[in-house]
Amino acid sequence: MDKRKILIQLDSDVQASVFDRVVAIDAGAEELFSYAGVKPDQVQGLVHGAIFTRGPKDLKNTAVFVGGSDVAAGEALLQEAVKHMIPAFGLRVSIMLDANGANTTAAAAVRAAAKHLDLNNAAALVLGGTGPVGQRVARLLARAGADVRVASRQAARAQHVCTAIAHQVPGAKLQPVGTGTPHELAAALDGRNLVVAAGAAGVVLLPRAARTACQSLKVAVDLNAVPPLGMEGVAVTDKGADHDGATCYGAIGVGDTKMKVHKAAVARLFESNDQVLDAEEIYQIACAL
Ligand SMILES: NC(=O)c1ccc[n+]([C@@H]2O[C@H](COP(=O)([O-])OP(=O)(O)OC[C@H]3O[C@@H](n4cnc5c(N)ncnc54)[C@H](OP(=O)(O)O)[C@@H]3O)[C@@H](O)[C@H]2O)c1
Repeated sequence: MDKRKILIQLDSDVQASVFDRVVAIDAGAEELFSYAGVKPDQVQGLVHGAIFTRGPKDLKNTAVFVGGSDVAAGEALLQEAVKHMIPAFGLRVSIMLDANGANTTAAAAVRAAAKHLDLNNAAALVLGGTGPVGQRVARLLARAGADVRVASRQAARAQHVCTAIAHQVPGAKLQPVGTGTPHELAAALDGRNLVVAAGAAGVVLLPRAARTACQSLKVAVDLNAVPPLGMEGVAVTDKGADHDGATCYGAIGVGDTKMKVHKAAVARLFESNDQVLDAEEIYQIACAL
């Protein structure tokens, strides 16, 4: 008989995310072990508890979910957890990173765009491209072959992100752009057919006039659900709505796919014990939905 499906939640926040706990149960986890305030130096013991208890053939029924609001902290926990698995002896469990929902949100945003554009030929602008979600959106788009402008209020910050993505995605077509002034924003929008706004909550990154002036725009995706929204004139619930000739998505419009991706990714963890689900792997799951 199969062992019960145990999901071990490693959360860097003081309280483990209730959202992630609910999704875990809805995705099929039968037991949920939640650890909060997890620091990298505590991960070894937690991972050893996971891999040394069941035999290798049963380890697919144990998995790890890394969450918390701090994406950099989550990345550190993921890295540490992978380091303490012992694949040579089959002693490993599958693991997924979705700190702050960054991977599932980025995957859902790029999927929304892919429904309407051939990403391989897309000319994209990622506003707020220096945040954890924006960086992942830019990376996924670059990997799909899109020409990507990564935007920041400070071009130097965007340059830093482009350099990091170029290391991860050989041959990526990337350009850092500053969008701190209306003039810079208009130049960054020039010739773009896809704009994703991944700016901080409650900040307008794309005013209506700038959006409507961009004649080449075909698809616009806003991920900010907190008013004022990231794209003026795009509603939070838009899901493929037409605004001024462009197909538009708001954060709640993308949220439905995000939830499906999150659940599917957790369920996938229990299919084998050798998976590491980060942005790219989660995007592949989104593509298969
Ligand atoms: N639906 C979901 O489940 C879900 C999940 C996660 C995130 N989100 C949303 O996705 C968006 C991106 O998330 P995130 O965590 O990556 O965002 P973030 O780190 O808070 O911000 C992203 C970028 O926005 C820019 N920014 C910050 N404050 C700004 C201001 N006052 N004016 C203009 N630009 C500003 C910064 O870029 P520069 O300093 O380089 O300009 C920053 O790197 C947020 O709106 C978030 O709420 C949704």
